[in-house]
Amino acid sequence: MSSKFPDHFLWGGAVAANQVEGAYQTDGKGLSTSDLQPQGIFGAVTPRVDGDSGIKDVAIDFYHRYPQDIALFAEMGFKCLRTSIAWTRIFPQGDEETPNEAGLAFYDRLFDEMAKYGIQPLITLSHYEMPYGLAKKYGGWGNRKTIGFFERYARTVFERYKHKVKHWLTFNEINMSLHAPFTGVGLPEGSSKSEIYQAIHHQLVASAKAVKACHEIVPEGKIGNMLLGGILYPLSCRPEDLLETQRQNRDWLFFGDVQARGSYPAYMKRYFRENGIQVESTAEDQQALRETIDFISFSYYMSGCVTTDEQQNTAERANILNMVPNPHLASSEWGWQIDPIGLRYLLNVLYDRYQKPLFIVENGLGAKDRIEADGSINDDYRINYLNDHLVQVAEAIDDGVEVMGYTSWGPIDLVSASKAEMSKRYGFIYVDRDDAGNGSLERRRKKSFYWYRDVIQSNGNSLKDQG
Ligand code: BG6
Repeated sequence: MSSKFPDHFLWGGAVAANQVEGAYQTDGKGLSTSDLQPQGIFGAVTPRVDGDSGIKDVAIDFYHRYPQDIALFAEMGFKCLRTSIAWTRIFPQGDEETPNEAGLAFYDRLFDEMAKYGIQPLITLSHYEMPYGLAKKYGGWGNRKTIGFFERYARTVFERYKHKVKHWLTFNEINMSLHAPFTGVGLPEGSSKSEIYQAIHHQLVASAKAVKACHEIVPEGKIGNMLLGGILYPLSCRPEDLLETQRQNRDWLFFGDVQARGSYPAYMKRYFRENGIQVESTAEDQQALRETIDFISFSYYMSGCVTTDEQQNTAERANILNMVPNPHLASSEWGWQIDPIGLRYLLNVLYDRYQKPLFIVENGLGAKDRIEADGSINDDYRINYLNDHLVQVAEAIDDGVEVMGYTSWGPIDLVSASKAEMSKRYGFIYVDRDDAGNGSLERRRKKSFYWYRDVIQSNGNSLKDQG
């Protein structure tokens, strides 16, 4: 049978600097906003005092162990690895005029290691972190000056890695700033909607400037945005529910609309007016926004529902969105609802809306794993989750959607973003470390490791259709 996946489909996995690297003060790295969230993005912002430690300080020690980890990814046949550059390794405080050479050299080594195996890097410029120096001294993205600091950082890494990295992303889950402002835009909790949208505006302008810089500097480079694909369904077919669902989906589609179409969508004017939100946008900003992304990338873990009926509104804080549970779906151990068909639907929604290639850059199941007496880890639950989602990706491709690739989240166990847990495992590769930071950091292949290797080798032909 011929595969539905295109020949050059980019199979792989995705991680982020602050969730794997550790070495949080090594080789001149500055403190990032993530370093001030030792309990994760839902934990308090905690000033660092000498002698403090957090699980992310070491994480899975990818900073030192990357050659072994890349070799394991290569063994699975990865064509692509998504990771991020820690901005603070390059500009430790964020406002320096010249970059930190030791930080730049680390990513040279990392990309060279990937090149040995023909693994293409897909690099996020900012994944849930920015230099804390910028948050403290300038008020993060609330300050227009941050656009310039980011542009300098982006141009620096494009120049340095232009022959090694061809696929770039600007801001991870850019829409999450609405729910976690410190993580997304370096603003304190309790910031007003106007302050948050102003900071978001600056970030959108910075994203467009990075797109322009990438087009100027990186030969054959492609640059995308990154959205949290939090697709919502109406809980009922009441027209009011449908309308409210459209409104809430626009909360996140707004970001894609600006980044893919080059200007603010019409519906935001009314939203801003009715919510007393004022955003300063100069003629120069509007000009900058016209430089649009080459492709859309997004994460997908779950879907959720919306209702206007107060009695039925049991919205829970799952991931970073408040979603009403869908009575037709099962949930993961962390309460995230599992919806493979939602991925096909989302791919179609995004392709209909933007007509740009799509890249699924996160998808996966966070679960507790058990090591058997013989040392094996039989994570069939993870295999089933990923299999069922990939079957739907194949369906979407058959629907005519252009999908560039798929990087599953956390191909190696890492520190979770929301609560900084190790026990919420996503990997094909197990890492011996627990929530308290105990463990040898030894790596071990799970059953899913061999399963994913076969999926890649067969270009998706080994996937099993759901019953
Ligand atoms: C996405 C983030 O929201 O979801 C990742 O981009 C994160 O950084 C992933 O790790 C899964 O969330 P969690 O909280 O289970 O790690």
